[in-house]
Amino acid sequence: MPRSRITGLGMHVPLRVVTNADLERLMDTSDAWIVERTGIRERRWVEPGTGATDLGLEAARLALADAGRQAGDVDFILFASTTRDYFFPGCGPLLQDRLGIGTVAAMDVHNACSGFVYSLATADALVRTGEYRCVLVVGAEVQSTGLNLSTAGRDMAVLFGDGAGAAVVEPSRDETRGLLASALHAEGAHAKDLWAEAPTSLVMGRMTPAMLAEGRMYPQMNGRQVFKHATTRFSEVIGEALARAGHTLDQVALIVPHQANQRIGDAVAERLGVPAEKVFQNIQRYGNTTAASIPIALTEARAEGRMKPGDLVVLAAFGGGFAWGATVMRW
Ligand SMILES: CC(C)(COP(=O)(O)OP(=O)(O)OC[C@H]1O[C@@H](n2cnc3c(N)ncnc32)[C@H](O)[C@@H]1OP(=O)(O)O)[C@@H](O)C(=O)NCCC(=O)NCCS
Repeated sequence: MPRSRITGLGMHVPLRVVTNADLERLMDTSDAWIVERTGIRERRWVEPGTGATDLGLEAARLALADAGRQAGDVDFILFASTTRDYFFPGCGPLLQDRLGIGTVAAMDVHNACSGFVYSLATADALVRTGEYRCVLVVGAEVQSTGLNLSTAGRDMAVLFGDGAGAAVVEPSRDETRGLLASALHAEGAHAKDLWAEAPTSLVMGRMTPAMLAEGRMYPQMNGRQVFKHATTRFSEVIGEALARAGHTLDQVALIVPHQANQRIGDAVAERLGVPAEKVFQNIQRYGNTTAASIPIALTEARAEGRMKPGDLVVLAAFGGGFAWGATVMRW
């Protein structure tokens, strides 16, 4: 079976910068609290009317150009988003239409923060079967329109941002480079520790006035539980994926984790015993962009020279589901 490789990367974030000081004007919070607990200093928010598909389209175009490919070369789209434009259909078919690529297969992955890692592992499998040769993997989110911007929602509202990243996955011409192994897990027993309940198909009309009044469409989180599980699972799954790839932690040049919280990134570095500079973090500027955070981080890590050809790189994510995973690649 051929190995697959990321041949192109791209990212796109909205122009509008929302600082912690901006949030102080909306709710009872402070720059000091947000920076100390999360590391986040600012995030990007869309102007109303812009959806995950719009952001994903820009990132996809850049990733295709980076790979030296045309939209017409794509033979499968995997679109990871928690905040898709509509209840259905997903963003995959919408992106396909915007790219003008006929009847190419398009699939949505609704897996919250681990959506990109799950999609990348799926793209790898699609390419290795030989059935597909140019898979476009997109992670895109518009979280800002779904946040409770009052003090009652401050625990979640300060964390999230909007953005998109994309990767083109193709067969690798160089057998030594590419995606080496992935490990994926989920634990649905914790579904309600990080979730947005509504709109829900469990009630007629998907939403009742009472649910609306109670704010049950806003994301809810048991922050401490998420923190505890995230730090454990990140470390475990990185070890598992490395073992599958036949490598060890000391051979890794860079870990690119889902950007959930700088303290989680720091705790993972400490738990694994790797120096902080080996864990890429840009959450300071974008907040948590859910399924978009890893492709955005990868694009910036490469641009900053933190990821060079031949480097062993590990991607890892943990989030809603709970679902988590890691991928090891030779860049
Ligand atoms: C969310 C998180 C930063 C909260 O940190 P924490 O130290 O556990 O804080 P707590 O939830 O115990 O809250 C401490 C206090 O700060 C308050 N607080 C919560 N959000 C606040 C905010 N944005 N601004 C100011 N105060 C806030 C709480 O109300 C609480 O006040 P109280 O002591 O008077 O009750 C932390 O739990 C975390 O990082 N969890 C993981 C989150 C995550 O990554 N989620 C994304 C999933 S991938």
